[in-house]
Amino acid sequence: MSLRRIHIDRLRRELNPQQWAAVSAGPGPKLVIAGAGSGKTRVVTYRVAYLIAQGVDPSNILMVTFTNKAAREMLSRVEALVGPEARRVWGGTFHAVGNRLLRGYAHLLGYRPNYTILDEEDQRDFIRLCITDEGIPLKEVRFPSPALVRDVLSFSRNTGIPVPEVLERYHPYFLEWAEVLERVEGRYRDRKLSANAMDYDDLLLNWLRLLREFPEVSELYGRKFEHILVDEYQDTNLLQAEIVELLASKNGRNIMVVATTPRAYTPSGGRATRTSSASPSATLGPRSSSSR
Ligand SMILES: Nc1ncnc2c1ncn2[C@@H]1O[C@H](COP(=O)(O)OP(=O)(O)OP(=O)(O)O)[C@@H](O)[C@H]1O
Ligand SMILES: [Mg+2]
Repeated sequence: MSLRRIHIDRLRRELNPQQWAAVSAGPGPKLVIAGAGSGKTRVVTYRVAYLIAQGVDPSNILMVTFTNKAAREMLSRVEALVGPEARRVWGGTFHAVGNRLLRGYAHLLGYRPNYTILDEEDQRDFIRLCITDEGIPLKEVRFPSPALVRDVLSFSRNTGIPVPEVLERYHPYFLEWAEVLERVEGRYRDRKLSANAMDYDDLLLNWLRLLREFPEVSELYGRKFEHILVDEYQDTNLLQAEIVELLASKNGRNIMVVATTPRAYTPSGGRATRTSSASPSATLGPRSSSSR
């Protein structure tokens, strides 16, 4: 029996039948929906191990999730299964993967590769300057705070809802400033570019732009990522869903997305409603008794 075979048998033994079915499923889109704590991340990590055992090069696998903590856990679980080879998997949060990609292509978007990343406080400082540039005496008029402006602009960019509409929906008492805020938005964009700085939203937006505006880049990465896996898919926003969708459209739709039961169907705020990149294929049952 070859080493590879032993490896796969071990994976199978440590999963219940439903988990194993998802882990060992053939190519094509997969949507795995199951309850909290039912072993969803286990499916994602074991599938990555399974694919590597099947001979897929780790650097051709993209595995994304939402929080740093979840990303670290995912990567260390894969490493525990397959060893140091796991480090070659492209894994992490959407923002981390976007950043890694953009470092190589920022020049196409007018940035230098050593761009800095603005944290929330930096963003507020930038926005305060843009508001001042608009000639708004912040201390004298009832104008949204830089923190609120940051939130409004960010929400607008992540959902595609224009700034005036965001104000109308969530902050109608500031609606009179809609035009000024749109100008602040433009100034903020210019300021970031001339400071060679991106905020967190830019890591997603510019990643998406890169894929949309530069077909050679989307072809390259669409083909490179032979397998895409997304954990906590219910937390995907529109931008992230579009990135995943675009990449998956180039790799023959080899994508597995994993989501927690109820929230996947109650879209709210900036969350995406689309799960069109996948078709239902698995639910997870009770844990196997043979494991651990
Ligand atoms: N078949 C199994 N055998 C043994 N342990 C399992 C099995 N499936 C899951 N577990 C364990 O149960 C715990 C929860 O699993 P996991 O984190 O994969 O669930 P999850 O659905 O991703 O949870 P969450 O909803 O919190 O993201 C982990 O410690 C995992 O190792
Ligand atoms: Mg999980």
